[in-house]
Amino acid sequence: MAHQNVYIVSNSSYVPKGVMTNQDFEKMVDTSDQWIHSRTGIRERRIAAEDESTSDMGTNAALKALKAAKKRADDIDLILVATLSPDFIFPSTACIIQEKIGASKSAAMDIQAACSGFLYGLSVAKAYIQSGTYNNILLISSEKLSAIIDYEDRNTCVLFGDGAAAQVISNEGPGLLVGEVLLGADGSQSELLCMQGGGSRNPASIETVKQRLHYLKMTDGQAVFKTAIKKMAEAGSRIMQKANLTSDDIAFFVPHQANLRIIEVLAKKFNVPMERVVTTLQKYGNTSASTIGIALDELLQRKVLKEDDKLLLLAFGSGFTWGSAFLTFKKEDQHD
Ligand code: UT7
Repeated sequence: MAHQNVYIVSNSSYVPKGVMTNQDFEKMVDTSDQWIHSRTGIRERRIAAEDESTSDMGTNAALKALKAAKKRADDIDLILVATLSPDFIFPSTACIIQEKIGASKSAAMDIQAACSGFLYGLSVAKAYIQSGTYNNILLISSEKLSAIIDYEDRNTCVLFGDGAAAQVISNEGPGLLVGEVLLGADGSQSELLCMQGGGSRNPASIETVKQRLHYLKMTDGQAVFKTAIKKMAEAGSRIMQKANLTSDDIAFFVPHQANLRIIEVLAKKFNVPMERVVTTLQKYGNTSASTIGIALDELLQRKVLKEDDKLLLLAFGSGFTWGSAFLTFKKEDQHD
């Protein structure tokens, strides 16, 4: 049986209005614009309003993506939401967004793969469409990380921001044709980047609040940094081999946006000059699952893509999880 082609037919993003600059952090913790910028590349990040939730941001991005794809909410068969900062532990944020956008015919579920959430979601969407199970899937990445950031912990608070992205993924183009998508995971170092409170192991209590367990913690940033480079480098090499592509085939590199130094090392490894690397972390920091969708939106807005341009996507996050994907820009639907 011939597999269906799978396209990202629209890609939209939403970032909240509130801006928090490095200078703002200088007034809160022992840090400096110079330290933050030189170690991470970040200048500022967006922060959601108090009454703006992960589902609100995801809904904004989703409505834009539906409009751009010229689809109605009722055309959607499945909603996938990649997030590590859901509205609630349950019900899923996907169900909440389903109701908000009125996608009454869709199934809905969340995907928890931290910063690799977009690529995990893309792989799930691809499998459902390729198998013929569904024709139209709405993939949403949305993060209100400011809700779980410890603004007294300088090791983590300067790194993260809020934002969302959404894609309509379909069996008919044109758009970004989804090629190989590869995923990986290694749970042996899960404690290096985690939030320990609020789940079944440490249910919420006065003690868990006092111990600040309801915040995201990164206990060894350098170890995370090194593993991120190693795993994304391996994932990139593996996918190029599998897809039979070389560095010359990469028109643009769209990596997860955690640290500019990580991105620069990978760009060098894959021989992609920085003009062809999409970076948004200067403005938005690390928005976890949302980074790649937001970066893709910036790239598409620039209207620089030419027919058959190939994009390499790489992600790494808590778990640890990682993933890689190739997308090809197609102005017309490709029939098999
Ligand atoms: O998205 C999921 C994946 N996440 C990542 O990939 C993040 C990976 N890690 C990183 O990006 C980097 O490790 C950080 C940006 C978090 C830290 O950069 P680093 O160059 O690895 O710094 P470090 O952790 O080795 O810390 C160097 C120094 C320490 O001080 P001492 O011990 O040398 O006196 C830290 O206490 O910098 C200090 N430091 C800070 N100083 C000013 C840590 N955070 C800050 C800060 N401002 N915000």
